[in-house]
Amino acid sequence: MKTTYEICVVHGDGIGPEVGKATVRALEAAFGDTSPLHFSEHPAGAQHFLEAGESFPGETFEACRAADAILHGAAGMPGVVHPDGTEAGLDFTLTLRGKLDLYANVRPIKLLPGVRSPLRDAGAIDYVIVRENSEGLYAARGAGTLLRGEVAVDPLVQTRKGIERIVRFAFELARTRGGAPRDGRRRVTCCDKANVLRSYAFFRSVFDEIAAQYPDVEAEHVLIDAMTVHLINRPSHYDVIVTENMFGDIISDLGAATIGGMGMSPSAELGDGNGFFQASHGSAPDIAGKGIANPYGTVLASALMLNWLGRRHADARLVEAADRIEAAVNFALADEMALSRDLGGTAGSEEITDILCARLRGRA
Ligand code: IPM
Ligand code: MN
Repeated sequence: MKTTYEICVVHGDGIGPEVGKATVRALEAAFGDTSPLHFSEHPAGAQHFLEAGESFPGETFEACRAADAILHGAAGMPGVVHPDGTEAGLDFTLTLRGKLDLYANVRPIKLLPGVRSPLRDAGAIDYVIVRENSEGLYAARGAGTLLRGEVAVDPLVQTRKGIERIVRFAFELARTRGGAPRDGRRRVTCCDKANVLRSYAFFRSVFDEIAAQYPDVEAEHVLIDAMTVHLINRPSHYDVIVTENMFGDIISDLGAATIGGMGMSPSAELGDGNGFFQASHGSAPDIAGKGIANPYGTVLASALMLNWLGRRHADARLVEAADRIEAAVNFALADEMALSRDLGGTAGSEEITDILCARLRGRA
């Protein structure tokens, strides 16, 4: 347990500052006058690239590395690109993942009461996508080749170490959960394309080796293409899904769509020494500055942050605050009290944040 936890806040672009500031307010409300959190703000992203010529300053990286946790709004502006066509605004997230070895991207997909799923008879949806975050197809970023302007290659990298640690992470996570909503069984699903590509067949074989060490948790395989169907037709079957980087990127958006959209989807990127927390969504430049951004995803990410910090430092105050933040979100959504526009309501970011803060301060 520490007396103070340093939280490095990077607001970023588009709606990033709106959802980031809403979340810092909620965190302050959760602790009142005796907050163990200390926030410092640092620049990064596409706007900073336009203004200062760099998307991720060295000082910001140092602050991230030294902090107890990193909280991010969102980043990216379409058209602000490097000469190779990739987006400058994404440098922050992608560089951080690599330099801090944030290998486990944890994306809970949970349908909250009061939120309507576009799925008919969805039933309960409560699973976690564990996305391998340090290799796979993303390992090629900045290292792929464009030959003579006519041949482009981005290799897909899977290592034994990388697969073992992410699969182990998934099984350990399953042990802390109550199983799949449909049958209460603890289950880890390996999502791959082992029928076609060697790299995924290797992923699956290492998965099977690790799975044998967890006889108390059910293990199964699903091919990525079939997975997109199952996540629509029987989401309540799933508990923990572990998958390669690019597949995890794609199915986490699909999963988010089933629980109210990207605005409801938090994300934690964890390494052995650092944790990075944000919503899964992007910077939504089309609605930036209008006060209508949905802050729930980032607020829920801050609950993941407190939970991770609390367990890491054996600090019950933080775990308890995480529970209260989740409860406040449930309170605001229940009876459709504070639905943002993407959820079919009319509540703006401020209104939602006010409701969350009042609840967290015990005034609602
Ligand atoms: C995500 C995002 C990122 C990704 C971008 C911003 C680099 O889409 O976190 O899912 O592709 O991983
Ligand atoms: Mn994504």
